[in-house]
Amino acid sequence: MRNADQITFNPRYPTSESLREKARKQIPRFAFDYLDGGCNDGENLLRNRERLRQVILQPKYLEDYPGCRLETTVFGNTYAAPFGVSPIGLQGLIWPGSPEILARAAFQNRLPFVLSTVGTASLEDIAHITEGSAWFQFYHPADDAVRDDLLDRARAAGYQVLVLLADTPTFGYRPGEIRSGLSMPPRWNLNNAAQMLVRPSWLWQTMRHGIPRFANLQPYMPAGLGLSGLGRFMDSFFQKRMTREKVAYIRDRWKGTLVLKGVSTVHDARVAQSLGLDGIVVSNHGGRQLDIGPSALEALRAIAPAVGKEMVVMMDGGLRSGPDIARSMACGAELAFLGRTFMYGTAALGGKGGDHVAAILKTQLQQVLEQLGCSRPSELPTFLP
Ligand SMILES: Cc1cc2nc3c(=O)[nH]c(=O)nc-3n(C[C@H](O)[C@H](O)[C@H](O)COP(=O)(O)O)c2cc1C
Repeated sequence: MRNADQITFNPRYPTSESLREKARKQIPRFAFDYLDGGCNDGENLLRNRERLRQVILQPKYLEDYPGCRLETTVFGNTYAAPFGVSPIGLQGLIWPGSPEILARAAFQNRLPFVLSTVGTASLEDIAHITEGSAWFQFYHPADDAVRDDLLDRARAAGYQVLVLLADTPTFGYRPGEIRSGLSMPPRWNLNNAAQMLVRPSWLWQTMRHGIPRFANLQPYMPAGLGLSGLGRFMDSFFQKRMTREKVAYIRDRWKGTLVLKGVSTVHDARVAQSLGLDGIVVSNHGGRQLDIGPSALEALRAIAPAVGKEMVVMMDGGLRSGPDIARSMACGAELAFLGRTFMYGTAALGGKGGDHVAAILKTQLQQVLEQLGCSRPSELPTFLP
């Protein structure tokens, strides 16, 4: 039986699923659908989970065991555990202040936090909270001057790791968002208003924090831009499709660590390597872009052996627990990221959500390593089907 002192989180929510269920009851349906849903029929979302579940690791008993350490060093930074927080756009809509909550939790737990360009906290504020240790996910602006300005702002704020996104050449077709009016521009209707009224704690926190804004884009938005113009602005603001030339330009201009996120083929991984990137995040955007595409885990298993010796290979997509993190590492990831699980945490528990999720994942991961007889995450047995 586990010693009660070892449980450092609210025992009512010991899993990602229990947080998800609490989140469902705590936030308006349109916000939950935005967080929870995938694209089209949700097959890629399901496939991410199914493929992970097939990874079985074998324990080694009857051997001396020196104990385990979760610490992991990536790009010269040592983190307390081999996982971090994926970038999520419009987090403040899901739970007010969530980028700040998660950035603070990541910083205090010595984990990497990645801020989205379309997050609801400014890159300057997040750099301040994390003392420059956060990573910045870069959606490429269409305007070259804005691109350079954003890169300069990120450098001036102290970011060392820039995460360039490759997997959104077009907006994903997401039925849940279409149904609830969460399109660009957002359509506010009676139904959405009713959903907010039945979620008083979310409504109260939103009133305290104010309407979520694309905080990083404010300097580039025309004055007086209303909801009706927002869609057109967002559509024209970003250069959605990445090209080798664009990546090469950023590689040349960004003197820090450069990572490409949204890689799901060996081909793209090799191109990233040839362009001098330091790492990749194998990811299918959490099943939100290409329903008929490969699961993140299948992609990882092909990509890690191909380029893992030359660059840092990380992954996200479908990870919900410590055992899942172990599975992704056994398949070749050096660092794993979780998107929805951290957001379920804040949507369920507000300001305590980030620490809560970090504590669950660390406790679970440590238990798995001890059970397997493995003293470091990097020594997890390689998964052989
Ligand atoms: C609601 C939502 C918004 C997202 N917004 C972004 C974003 O702005 N930038 C980005 O690089 N990825 C974004 N992603 C993808 C995540 O960074 C990550 O790849 C994905 O959530 C991982 O899958 P998981 O949620 O199953 O852990 C988003 C994901 C979700 C669920």
